Amino acid sequence: MAFSNTVCLLGLFLALPLYWSSPFAYGDTDPLEVAALLAVRNKLKDPYKYLKWNKKRDPCITNWTGVICYLNNTDGYMHVQELRLLRLNLSGTLAPELGQLTYMKRLDFLWNNISGSIPKEIGHITALELLLLSGNQISGSLPDELGYLPNLTKFQLDLNFISGPIPTSFANLVKVQHFHMNNNRFSGQIPPELSQLNALKHVLLDNNNLSGYLPPELAQMRSLTILQLDNNNFAGSVIPNSYGNMTKLLKLSLRNCSLQGTIPDLSAIRGLLYLDLSMNQLTGSISTNRLSENTTTIILSGNQLNGSIPSNFSGLSHLQKLYLDNNWLSGSVPSNIWQNINFTSDTNVDINFENNFLSDILGILEVPQNVTLRLQGNPVCTNASQRNITLLCGPDNGNDESEETLDNLNKPVSTCPPQACPTKNHFRYVPTLPNTSCFCAAPFGVGLRLRSPSISSFLPYRDQFDMFITKNVNATPNTPLDKYQLYVDSIEWEKGPRLRMFLLFFPRYSNDSNTFGENEVQAIASTFAAFTIPGSDIFGPYDLLNFTAEGPYSNVILPSLSSAGLSKGALAGIVLGSIFCASVILLGILLFIRKKHKSSQVEVVKNQSLTKFPMKMDGVKAFSFEDLQTATNNFSTTTQIGQGGYGKVYKGTLADGVVVAIKRAQQGSLQGDKEFYTEIEMLSRLHHRNLVALVGYCDEKDEQMLVYEFMPNGSLHDLLSARYRAPLGFGTRLHIALNASRGILYLHTEADPPIIHRDIKANNILLDSKMTAKVSDFGISRLAPISDPKGLTTAHISTIVKGTPGYVDPEYFLTNKLTEKSDVYSLGIVFLELLTGMQPISHGRNIVREVNTAHQSGMMFSIIDRNMGQYPSEGVKKFMALAMRCSSDETKDRPLMLEVVRELENISSMLPESDNTSSEFVNVNLSSSGTSVASAPSTSVYDRRSTYLTGDRSGDDLVSGVIHSIMPR
Ligand SMILES: *[C@@H]1O[C@H](CO)[C@@H](O)[C@H](O)[C@H]1NC(C)=O
Ligand SMILES: *[C@@H]1O[C@H](CO)[C@@H](O)[C@H](O)[C@H]1NC(C)=O
Ligand SMILES: *[C@@H]1O[C@H](CO)[C@@H](O)[C@H](O)[C@H]1NC(C)=O
Repeated sequence: MAFSNTVCLLGLFLALPLYWSSPFAYGDTDPLEVAALLAVRNKLKDPYKYLKWNKKRDPCITNWTGVICYLNNTDGYMHVQELRLLRLNLSGTLAPELGQLTYMKRLDFLWNNISGSIPKEIGHITALELLLLSGNQISGSLPDELGYLPNLTKFQLDLNFISGPIPTSFANLVKVQHFHMNNNRFSGQIPPELSQLNALKHVLLDNNNLSGYLPPELAQMRSLTILQLDNNNFAGSVIPNSYGNMTKLLKLSLRNCSLQGTIPDLSAIRGLLYLDLSMNQLTGSISTNRLSENTTTIILSGNQLNGSIPSNFSGLSHLQKLYLDNNWLSGSVPSNIWQNINFTSDTNVDINFENNFLSDILGILEVPQNVTLRLQGNPVCTNASQRNITLLCGPDNGNDESEETLDNLNKPVSTCPPQACPTKNHFRYVPTLPNTSCFCAAPFGVGLRLRSPSISSFLPYRDQFDMFITKNVNATPNTPLDKYQLYVDSIEWEKGPRLRMFLLFFPRYSNDSNTFGENEVQAIASTFAAFTIPGSDIFGPYDLLNFTAEGPYSNVILPSLSSAGLSKGALAGIVLGSIFCASVILLGILLFIRKKHKSSQVEVVKNQSLTKFPMKMDGVKAFSFEDLQTATNNFSTTTQIGQGGYGKVYKGTLADGVVVAIKRAQQGSLQGDKEFYTEIEMLSRLHHRNLVALVGYCDEKDEQMLVYEFMPNGSLHDLLSARYRAPLGFGTRLHIALNASRGILYLHTEADPPIIHRDIKANNILLDSKMTAKVSDFGISRLAPISDPKGLTTAHISTIVKGTPGYVDPEYFLTNKLTEKSDVYSLGIVFLELLTGMQPISHGRNIVREVNTAHQSGMMFSIIDRNMGQYPSEGVKKFMALAMRCSSDETKDRPLMLEVVRELENISSMLPESDNTSSEFVNVNLSSSGTSVASAPSTSVYDRRSTYLTGDRSGDDLVSGVIHSIMPR
């Protein structure tokens, strides 16, 4: 485990792809769940081969498509937490074995072609929170068992062929907030027992075959905001008067439900925005006492309503649609309905009074341009005495649905012609950027559908929508998007009515970059996928339909689509990198465990002039080929521990007994002598107790090899993520942070010329036998620029972005400007890991955002790694404050390395003596067999290790074997 520095030096001359980072995994997946997943896979058909589920590999560790796991520290297993298989064209059926994924919180097969019925075993997944099966071909009826999911909040089965009744057992779903079950074939009575569901907000049961009566009890649901039951057949039922008590209601839609009786008094529902009771057999007159000023839509068409049109519709200043057509209304047409509306160019008021008995017009009728008033089929149209009315009496244009189209949505908003942007990278001009005529950037697309909006015309709410979305979507932690970064590219009203829309997100305006960073795209996507956007009264719940990640984003791994878009190159990089690093680490372990001092027969050949470019480099040895040949037993396969496209890695014991790892570049991957020497020369000049040292190299006989110091305690990443972790106290963590910082400070200020590391991460902070941290991997480092002496411009190096996702300075990502502060950012992330034990990115969550969120809500201590044991809260606070400053988005907000070191020293000096000693280090030091975590199942750990020591060393085994092997015995 000492030699990821070796690996990463190789990164330079072997050009591993960017993604080759974190090779280590947590524990294995729970075997029961592996079996369940395999059974699930067996029942699925995957015609487009989107599912990268390699049956021979561990699901959680090898990132099976859509399988998202977490580590349970108690039982040491990875458990499936989410199954996200959105829109992958899957068919087949749902296996009953899904019920064995008992830790699962999200079961998501949205928009596939799954058929068959819902297995009752899903009712056993007691942790389940989101059951998302919309848009498939699921049939059969709902099992009663689904009613026993105590934590279910979202129940989304719309657009399937599910039949049978809604089980009364659903009255137990006490946490459920969303019943989205529209467009199925449900039949029977709506169970009155559902009235117990006090968390229920949205009941969408439209377009089914429900019958019976509307239960008056439903009015008891305390949180209900949307009740949409259109196109069912409650023949003979009335609308219960109690529904007038649903005071939270925003939308009541009971179109075409065969309802009778009168319209109850709804005046207590002060916030009602949308009322549709059309196509029933309702009688009586319309009363509009105290309508909500914000009401957008009233549709009462196709009933038998009589009496006159109430005068107080004129109080509706946000009215968009008023349909009273095809009733028995008599009296006058009011001419002041629109008097309180504040017209803008977007206003569109649609009033339909056709086919009634309206005989005249009250007052003078002046219909504004933005208002459509239809009167055909009323006596008033045949009354010759009315002026100017023929137009209003013309035939219906036929389109009853909203006429809003893409065309009137896409008004010119920028002076920049679309063709001004290069299309080959899918760049587009940012349409709504204020004050700048032309900025071309690559958008990221999100397909949405508002499934029950409370408006009838989107255009007037466009601004509000843009603000609502951008306020709630962060691309970078704690920084909401600017409004111009969202452009609603198209909308289309669908039956329901529902509103399908396509959103384009643009990167923030900048002189240096016109693309989002990968993290940013992921952040936007996961906001939508996780349904974290808060509910909106006006826009209602949404469906996530798809993501469109083209051009520069085509390789980004999106939360719902998993690795479907991952390029082969990147994947190969991951695998090779993993195998290689794991191998090197295993070497370290092997050597350490079997610490046998081979008596060496080797003659030490000192600096013979065998090398092609003999050079003098302090402290770095030029090994002869024979030296390393002997150290590795003639590069025998038994000493080989890794292989990739770039070459092989061997364990070696030098003549003096020193244990090293030797990387041997393979023919064809050799780099030029000059580059090789430049790199070695650079490394040889770096001497600091907190930097891992290059021991030597070999360059002869068409061979290039590198030899590194051995670090027996592995990387900080191992330490924080090992399955059975010994407690790691605050003192130790601070000690590691301080030492790593000192190493980096040296690179920035004392190395000549200064060096920016560029890939600081927990994997590159290694620990020696005394748990002293040393920074490794200068493989992609670059010499730092000499600062402008006047300090007028920030010195930086422009270069393609390298580094590891989660650790890359967002500003560097955007601008490609590399500064020392980019290292400070990455180090800040490492600090956050030290404090929280979290990974920089896990399950689509970004550590910076999580910490900031916790901090802002005053819950900072809730995210401190529980494995830290007792800690001095003042010290932790200060360390946290420092970590957060380091990981600020803005370069200028981050401290310099010198300040970082000083602050850490300062915190360290506050600790009691005992916390600062290395006594607790013993616990985590592998060499001290005997000290251990008592509860760890040591036998099985040992067994596993033996397997890896002797068994087939395929890359996967190595990857998963590593963690077990470094666990304390
Ligand atoms: C699996 O995902 C983790 C976390 O996103 C990543 O670090 C790791 O490299 C991935 N492994 C593979 C084999 O894709
Ligand atoms: C972890 O596993 C233990 C033992 O199986 C179990 O009791 C506990 O609930 C699990 N914790 C979580 C968070 O799943
Ligand atoms: C349900 O959620 C609560 C609160 O998040 C949690 O404590 C509980 O363990 C969950 N229940 C199950 C069965 O997972």
